[in-house]
Amino acid sequence: MARKDTTEFMAMKGAGYYSKATVGAKHVMDNAAELVLAAVDRMAPADDGSVFRVTDMGAADGGTSLGTSLGMWGQVLGHIRANVASRPIKIIYTDLPRNDFSQTFQIVHGQTGEGTFMNNVPDMYPLASATSFHLAIVPVQLWHRRGRALSG
Ligand SMILES: C[S@@+](CC[C@H](N)C(=O)[O-])C[C@H]1O[C@@H](n2cnc3c(N)ncnc32)[C@H](O)[C@@H]1O
Repeated sequence: MARKDTTEFMAMKGAGYYSKATVGAKHVMDNAAELVLAAVDRMAPADDGSVFRVTDMGAADGGTSLGTSLGMWGQVLGHIRANVASRPIKIIYTDLPRNDFSQTFQIVHGQTGEGTFMNNVPDMYPLASATSFHLAIVPVQLWHRRGRALSG
């Protein structure tokens, strides 16, 4: 029978190996940021002081999607910050339990030398959910309060 669940067999090498080996994926993501920006604009999030939540699903070490104002998350989170200045932004990194989340947070906090949105987007809170995305990675109420996906 064909296998549909990647939980048991998929995991990336740790210690920052992933994003160093996949700069091509980073270029694709950086250039796709405008699609995410357009999606955020379609949501028209209210500047109401509530927590704005996003998730990076299958994030590996977080390096390919990271960025300051040029990387994918740098562009997207900078755009959200500019549009909803009153809202704290929570970014939930999700991957399989065996992912090297220590490396993810070192990269996100700029402790490995990469530029990071943490330096230029204020009121940011990076967290993790080490749970397969074939399962619930956060309580459903977090995503659909007031009928809106992706915002709190
Ligand atoms: C090809 S890497 C992509 C990493 C990064 N997002 C990028 O695009 O460069 C795929 C990632 O998805 C994760 N992954 C695979 N199956 C998963 C699952 N069921 N739940 C959560 N993460 C999963 C792997 O552990 C791996 O880190």
